[in-house]
Amino acid sequence: MIKIAGICGSLRPNSANHRLLHAAWKQGAPESELNLIDWSMIKIFDDQSAPSSDLLEIAAQISISDALLISSPEYNWSIPGGLKNLLDWLSVLPQNPILNKPTLIMGASSGRLGTARMQPHLRSVLTHFKADLVSHPEVAISNTSEVFDPSGDLIDPEIENLLKQAMAELIKLVPAS
Ligand SMILES: Cc1cc2nc3c(=O)[nH]c(=O)nc-3n(C[C@H](O)[C@H](O)[C@H](O)COP(=O)(O)O)c2cc1C
Repeated sequence: MIKIAGICGSLRPNSANHRLLHAAWKQGAPESELNLIDWSMIKIFDDQSAPSSDLLEIAAQISISDALLISSPEYNWSIPGGLKNLLDWLSVLPQNPILNKPTLIMGASSGRLGTARMQPHLRSVLTHFKADLVSHPEVAISNTSEVFDPSGDLIDPEIENLLKQAMAELIKLVPAS
């Protein structure tokens, strides 16, 4: 069974990006296992401190996964600080857990541009990690209040279709075992 590690760039309860992660998994790879990574305990990066055991555990969870699915909001036209902080910590480990990792970037925003300004920044950071990134289709979801119902279920068939396509591209990058 394919193991997917999921990272949500938002810690907000009822996060649209959390909903998008679930929807992508449900639409695109329901037979796979989705492990949503809790990174809420990671402190601000400081190069005088050793990586915490929580960080090492997160790195191990990513390493043993076949693929990485990231969904993040856009904050002030870029990557939310918490998610960037997590990536900065992961970047100083002796072994890069994202090296060659099949990775799909997604983003959801309540605004009109659907994280289109944030995604190139995240793509650039993950390129530095040498992730194996899905190049297209891009998953940038705008106006989230019209896309999910109040219980958090996806209600837009075009987005369902987009998520199926994007997840199929992600699964194609996973080497056959
Ligand atoms: C500090 C902050 C900055 C934001 N900046 C942007 C922005 O630059 N572009 C945008 O589309 N939305 C921006 N938003 C709105 C978020 O896209 C919106 O809150 C989104 O739903 C958050 O994702 P979540 O529901 O997964 O938490 C910002 C929100 C916050 C809290």
